[in-house]
Amino acid sequence: MASPLTARPEWQALTEHYQTISTRHLRELFATDPQRGERLTAEAVGLFLDYSKHRVTDETIRLLVALAESCGLAERIAAMFQGEKINVTEGRAVLHTALRAPRSAQIVVGGHDVVPDVHAVLDQMADFSQRVRFGAWRGHTGQPIRTVVNIGIGGSDLGPVMAYQALRHYSQRNLTFRFISNIDATDFVENVRDLDPATTLFIVASKTFTTLETMTNAHSARTWLIAALGDAAAVSKHFVAVSTNAEAVAAFGIDTANMFGFWDWVGGRYSMTSAIGLSTMLALGPDNFHALLGGFRAMDEHFRTAPFAQNLPVLMGLLNVWYSSFFGAETVAVLPYDQYLSRFPAYLQQLTMESNGKRVTLDGQPVNYQTGAIFWGEPGTNGQHSFYQLIHQGTKLIPCDFIGFCQSLNPLGSHHDLLMANFFAQSEAMAFGKTAAEVAAQGTPDWLVPHRTFPGNLPSSTILADRLTPAVLGALVALYEHSVFTQGVIWDIGSFDQWGVELGKVLAGRIAPELNAEADPELNHDSSTNALIRRYRACRA
Ligand code: F6P
Repeated sequence: MASPLTARPEWQALTEHYQTISTRHLRELFATDPQRGERLTAEAVGLFLDYSKHRVTDETIRLLVALAESCGLAERIAAMFQGEKINVTEGRAVLHTALRAPRSAQIVVGGHDVVPDVHAVLDQMADFSQRVRFGAWRGHTGQPIRTVVNIGIGGSDLGPVMAYQALRHYSQRNLTFRFISNIDATDFVENVRDLDPATTLFIVASKTFTTLETMTNAHSARTWLIAALGDAAAVSKHFVAVSTNAEAVAAFGIDTANMFGFWDWVGGRYSMTSAIGLSTMLALGPDNFHALLGGFRAMDEHFRTAPFAQNLPVLMGLLNVWYSSFFGAETVAVLPYDQYLSRFPAYLQQLTMESNGKRVTLDGQPVNYQTGAIFWGEPGTNGQHSFYQLIHQGTKLIPCDFIGFCQSLNPLGSHHDLLMANFFAQSEAMAFGKTAAEVAAQGTPDWLVPHRTFPGNLPSSTILADRLTPAVLGALVALYEHSVFTQGVIWDIGSFDQWGVELGKVLAGRIAPELNAEADPELNHDSSTNALIRRYRACRA
């Protein structure tokens, strides 16, 4: 039975249109349309998007925009910004956009204007950050803080890690930042082994303050600190918390005066502009953090107001729908040509896949179309010497997002021009390839020609900005956030819950006591899991 989405005339028009487009090559699309490279572009908030190397025509964009309109994207955008409870399975508003609203804005949730609350926390973060950065905040022995360790996982880790790496150029260099996330003790041990407890500050970042990994690491950190400083009272000078759960923070022993709050309407993977960004503000200082928020805000406004055909997040979201649901492409490669963005693909993995890795519609019906793609990637040019082979000559269709900057933050000889020459060359090679005739014309022996032929017709977006600044990073992250939302609206799935992480957590809770029980426990799993647990028990130290 056709679902409401695939039954829409706009979807069916795209299905029909796909039959034509799928047979056309980008070589031909460019040859017959000399203005294409200048026309199929859009620009906003310091980001220039060239989508001309996608397997689309003006008609494709018109049909995709019509689909977005028929799916009520405009109404859903308005509902999100107005604080309606669009996270239906958790009964919550989705208001990460309120985190970057200006002081003068008013956003009412449940009869309460949340903007003053947001700015009160930002002010608290700024005051604390400046005290730490300039040495007014002292540790238990009276020394200033030299290392900040963020303990968190998922959205309470990936945003802070990514932002710290991305904006390291702007960071205060006499402070060191570390990030501990994995429950594997190696993460904790290797990160603290060279630290001086007397000058170390831990930020325990957890929305719920119940997450197993974070709480286990936080307890180990507290034990490590007290063992070194010999006084449990030291905790108050070396631990602060970022959470929505004041009770659990107090129970851990952190003074709630040193807790930075946020709210249930901020999803974990959408939280880097909340107090979860405390490590970011400590590294960059309040002014740079506010510039980052400004970039987010400008992209939020663009998304909210720009016509769909010129709206960067809408265009990128629709292109993702086009490849996932019509071409059957399974993945998207994110390829930043900037070493500072080395953790950007990892950040996007949670943002995109925890959001749109869903198989039922908002009202619980199974979908009969492909939804969220697998996002992955590495910075260029490193990826070129590893997996690009498969993109160029393998059997999979992998749309790519190339992200690059006109100016280097570290100008050095010809590095940047060489980097960017590769950046432009790769999308050119992917789009146009190299025909067998071209290969043969170079004197290649016949038997080698198929091996040296590049089919081309591989789609990519190019996102180009002047320079990687805090504001540009904000715009870039918000671009992907809203692209994810656009896709979720078209697919009619809930992009803001994550029930898929629950089952494994529950099963791990059941298995943990079986692993360290004194006597052999009665195991009631399947035969594979039972045998693996027995084997582990027999050889664990
Ligand atoms: O992976 C599930 C998840 O709930 C994420 O959505 C979240 O970012 C992460 O765990 C961490 O949660 P918390 O901030 O509550 O510790």
